[in-house]
This record gives sequence, structure tokens and C-alpha cells, in this order.
Amino acid sequence: MEIIIQPTVADAQQEAANILRRQIRDKPASVLGLATGSTPIGVYALLVAMHRRGELDFSRVSTFNLDEYVGLPPDHPCSYREFMRQHLFSHVNIASDRIHFPNGLAADIPAHCEEYEAAIARAGGIDLQLLGIGREGHIGFNEPSSSLASRTRIKTLTPQTLKDNADCFGGPDKVPHHVITMGVGTIMDARQCLLLATGEAKASVVAGMVEGPITADLPASILQLHPVCRLVIDEAAAAKLRRADYYRWVYANKPGWQRS
Ligand code: GLP
Repeated sequence: MEIIIQPTVADAQQEAANILRRQIRDKPASVLGLATGSTPIGVYALLVAMHRRGELDFSRVSTFNLDEYVGLPPDHPCSYREFMRQHLFSHVNIASDRIHFPNGLAADIPAHCEEYEAAIARAGGIDLQLLGIGREGHIGFNEPSSSLASRTRIKTLTPQTLKDNADCFGGPDKVPHHVITMGVGTIMDARQCLLLATGEAKASVVAGMVEGPITADLPASILQLHPVCRLVIDEAAAAKLRRADYYRWVYANKPGWQRS
């Protein structure tokens, strides 16, 4: 895992946006896995700005979002589809038929989950998966105890996640208890992963993910086994890493041709 520590949240967001820009420029028909949550909002704003400056063309890009709430129509203000429309899709030239989400209203959820996996495979697999991390170590909505080999399926949210995601819904009791999420195994199949985490509230989980054991108790720890995974964090999220100085040293000595 490459650990990139940036001084501020803004620097971390810029680094993540630069990595995505490089991916799309190197492969204009990239298949991107996208994430929601408050962390990537600034990255999406930077991608929109890059697009407006003529630096990024989304016309051949395909996207698969990690997860969606069960029971919410796509245009519900708290659905993840609506989140992505607001923060990215309505501002760039992406083709609507290349945007993919789990369908929270699917009548047959297991069949729909299989179809989501099949759609990813038909698109050629995910080139770059953008991730955030939940306070208890989830990626997508793979809560602690998720099988590290899991595929897209229905999951039940933990009380902590209900609390963390309550803002849009007006209280934890109003957050849907079920979601459809790509599995940990689905995420691990992406050719590259890019996890962005910022702020002191993420410092413990980041340390556990990077320097702790690989365990389903902290699903993001499986990324230690991913062959091409970058973790971009700010100083606050890096505060509990034992080897932070070493990670900084490695990054400072990174060959120019490897930079985004
Ligand atoms: C949600 C999403 C995750 C995201 C997490 C962290 O649970 N399903 O993909 O990583 O929130 O959210 P935040 O970035 O707001 O801390």
C-alpha cells in the first residue's frame, strides 16, 4: 500500500483528484468505482473544475457506485444517486447510460446484485475504485464482520453508521437500515484502489487499517492485500500511524515519473 500523507484536507483532496485525472487521461474509457460520503465531495468539486478548464473529458468514462440505500427512489434527496448527480454527474459530460448504481427499489434484490456484478464484468472490470472509510472500518457499506470475499449484496447498517449518516435524513431513526453494497471481494477485484480519509475522527481506523491485522472486524484492512492501493490522508488522519515518518520519506523520494 502506498501511504500519501498531505499537510491539509485540501492537499489530500487535490492529490486524489490528480490521481483520478491521470487515470482518465491515460485511459479515456476508464471504468471508475465511485464513493459517497462527505470525504470525496471536495475531490468531485476539483474534478468538475478540471472539466470546466478543459482538462478532463468524461465522455467515454463509465462509473459504478459502491452502494445505495434500500427502499429509496433514485430521486430521493438522500439517495446516493442524487448525491452523485449534485456533486459530479450534472456538471460533467458523462453519458447517462454509462452511470451505474445498485437499485434500492429492486424487487428481487439477490438477482439485482448478481446483475450488478455482471454489469461490472461486461464493462471490463473497474480500473480505479475510489473509497472512503467508515469510522468502524467499512468500505462501501461492508460493515465489520463482512466476509472479506463478499460480492454485491444486501447489508444491515450498524447503529454507528446510522448515526453518522443521519444528517440528510433528519435523525438516525429515519435512515434506512438496509443497503445494497459492492462486496469486499468486488472492491478487491478493482485494478487499483484509492482510499481518501481526512480528519482526526479517522485517525484510529486508518492506523488499524494500515498497521493492524487483516481482519473482517475492520474490513478496510483487506486492502493490505491489494496489489495497487493508494491511501491519501491528511496529517490529522495520519496522527496515529506508527511509521508516519517512513511513509513521508518514501513519498518525498518518489520518482518523478510515478507522480500524478
Ligand atoms: C458511507 C459510505 C462509505 C463512506 C463512508 C464514510 O457509509 N457508504 O462509502 O466511505 O460513508 O463517510 P464520510 O466520508 O462522510 O466519513
